[in-house]
Amino acid sequence: MIDLQQAGEGLDGYALLSAQLEALLAGERDFIANAAQFSAFLYHHVEDLNWAGFYLNRNEELLLGPFQGQVACVRIPFDRGVCGAAAATRQTQRVEDVHAFPGHIACDSASNSELVIPLVKDGQLIAVLDLDSPTVGRFSEDDQRGLERLAAIFLAATDC
Ligand code: SME
Repeated sequence: MIDLQQAGEGLDGYALLSAQLEALLAGERDFIANAAQFSAFLYHHVEDLNWAGFYLNRNEELLLGPFQGQVACVRIPFDRGVCGAAAATRQTQRVEDVHAFPGHIACDSASNSELVIPLVKDGQLIAVLDLDSPTVGRFSEDDQRGLERLAAIFLAATDC
């Protein structure tokens, strides 16, 4: 059994989450298993989220992957929504207010802000990691850096 408390002893914030995530994923490299674990870890350990999970790159279209939260739309083209913008540009999309984002796809009406991180390995877009919050402006620049660090730990620990 993984002791997440012990894994992060003496650390706080994203340093703590990073140490815990490394411990959680150690010993397993399967993509689906690690993506499912990572989604649950984010949903339960990052405050104020209503959705956390993956959309997978399937021939320039995003397909719903492992997630936690309300049921969601299954397929998203690269030219639609915050997730599509992250996939098309390969740049993290940090959206203060999703209602002001042209083309935002409202899967869960509780969502008011969103952070989407593209996951790129060896030059290939593997997936995007999507985090939604009911709070407008939930994600700061520090949150973006911290969550990008967690995404990098996931990619390094996982076969894609
Ligand atoms: N809001 C996203 C769609 C996915 S859900 O948030 C889970 C978007 O605009 O791409």
